[in-house]
Amino acid sequence: MLNSISPEDLFVAFGLDSARIGERPFVQRRLSDLRGCFADTAAYDAALAAEDPVLYEVTAVEPANGDGQLHYGLGILYPGKIGDEYFLTKGHYHSHRPAAEVYVGLKGEGAMLLEDEHSSESRMVPLRANSVVYVPGHTAHRTLNTGDTPLVYLGIYPSNAGHDYGAIADKNFRMTIVEQNGQPALRERVEGRG
Ligand code: F6R
Ligand code: MN
Repeated sequence: MLNSISPEDLFVAFGLDSARIGERPFVQRRLSDLRGCFADTAAYDAALAAEDPVLYEVTAVEPANGDGQLHYGLGILYPGKIGDEYFLTKGHYHSHRPAAEVYVGLKGEGAMLLEDEHSSESRMVPLRANSVVYVPGHTAHRTLNTGDTPLVYLGIYPSNAGHDYGAIADKNFRMTIVEQNGQPALRERVEGRG
């Protein structure tokens, strides 16, 4: 097994500010890729008409596949809001529903929105430097930047987790995280409204 892992995957150095791993390719999501995710559709359309900024970037590292193996992603989510809702990731379930994930906050101030697949129970959990968020299996998860600097984090997950974006694209999350009196707050998401 050890021999089958490339030295580049055994030891990885990353930039804490850039959230890049050398020259490795990364996925970039712009505001236009997030259509349908934000509650305030008028504010979304107005923002997109003005510009199409990069909201986040993720470098995925997949050293090995198979039972017991791990993958991870280094993410950077930029600050901003659409209406009073913070910039956010698409969010997903894992295709293999029992797969859990650990998020490690590295820089900035953010929150994770967790939603139980069966009960739709929602939680807002802080994500910041020197902190770990445990995302149980069967839980939709989305990351939001609640600060005014880039949020940098690692997500570590089983190699067989897979990503199911379809369920979120259909139904979105029941709740969202908005700025209320200068603080992040969980609020019922009403389509078309903030
Ligand atoms: C992997 C994981 C993270 C996200 C990243 C971007 O399972 O949860 O690495 O992939 O935060 O969010 P999405 O994938 O929802 O666009
Ligand atoms: Mn995940």
